[in-house]
Amino acid sequence: MIRIAIVGFGTVGQGFAELLERKREEIRKKIGEFKVVAIADSKSSISGEFSIDEAIKMKREEGRLRDDRKADELIDEVDFDILVEATHTKLDGGSGLSYIKKALKKGSHVITSNKGPLVADFEGLMTLAEKKGVKLMYEATVGGAMPVIKLIKRYLAFCEIESVRGILNGTCNYILSRMEEEGLPYEQILNEAQELGIAEADPTYDVEGIDAAAKLIIIANTIGVDAKFEDVERVGIRKITPEAFNVAEEKGYTIRLIAEVSKETLRVSPRLVPLSHPLAIKGTMNATMFKTDTAGNIFVAGRGAGKEETASAMLSDLYDIYVSN
Ligand code: HSE
Repeated sequence: MIRIAIVGFGTVGQGFAELLERKREEIRKKIGEFKVVAIADSKSSISGEFSIDEAIKMKREEGRLRDDRKADELIDEVDFDILVEATHTKLDGGSGLSYIKKALKKGSHVITSNKGPLVADFEGLMTLAEKKGVKLMYEATVGGAMPVIKLIKRYLAFCEIESVRGILNGTCNYILSRMEEEGLPYEQILNEAQELGIAEADPTYDVEGIDAAAKLIIIANTIGVDAKFEDVERVGIRKITPEAFNVAEEKGYTIRLIAEVSKETLRVSPRLVPLSHPLAIKGTMNATMFKTDTAGNIFVAGRGAGKEETASAMLSDLYDIYVSN
């Protein structure tokens, strides 16, 4: 029986719990029986006998869970095999970083959707996981449902990845592609992106390229480039006007916020992209192009945000922990 503890019970944590329940039978067939043994949000928790449905209902109706026990104590006191860490991103790692460290030190696997801890201490966390002989999985931190991390680690395992270029922020891509098509100014479209529920709680993180830079740091470290957030050359999309698209289009280009890592480059900035190029993707989609020595160019695209999409990436991590060895 796989025992799962969930810390962070907002959209992502609840989405993951719901998907576990919905896919219970498939998970049982492919991995085995599981039980969610504890859930904590920022101020309350539940452990012992409870069902996922019951916890979700409680959280939605009462805004909290049954007990006062905090996430920290829960991690210390409850026995579990996997910690699912889905708290909000803070670039200094925030409490998510200490939850992950605690769980790894205890010898449990971790699946996280939280960029902050990996941006703050990628090397430290990976070393700790290795020392304890457990896995730290983070597919959901970059590009939501778009497979990037396990693609690098498994399918491109023996490739030299010469560069990665990607659209890693759905909010910016949505704003830029609406600007391109409708000539609307960015402030107006940002409101609509917020209504779609994909923008960060503080949308400055999106439009200034902070979210994309955080994801780029995770990709960079995954391909073996030892980089820190401060190393990213970063320009956001605030200064892009609808007129800029007209000029670009006359020459056969559009404008996209591109995150790029190679030996020489670590940058997030608006770039001209040929209209026919796969990275000229539209709407909230994310896309990534890998340039490799032996596999040529690989292109992937997918939904970079959303409750179910993020949960699907976390579920793929669960599969990886138990099956893909
Ligand atoms: N705000 C992010 C985006 C959500 O727009 O892509 C996923 O990290």
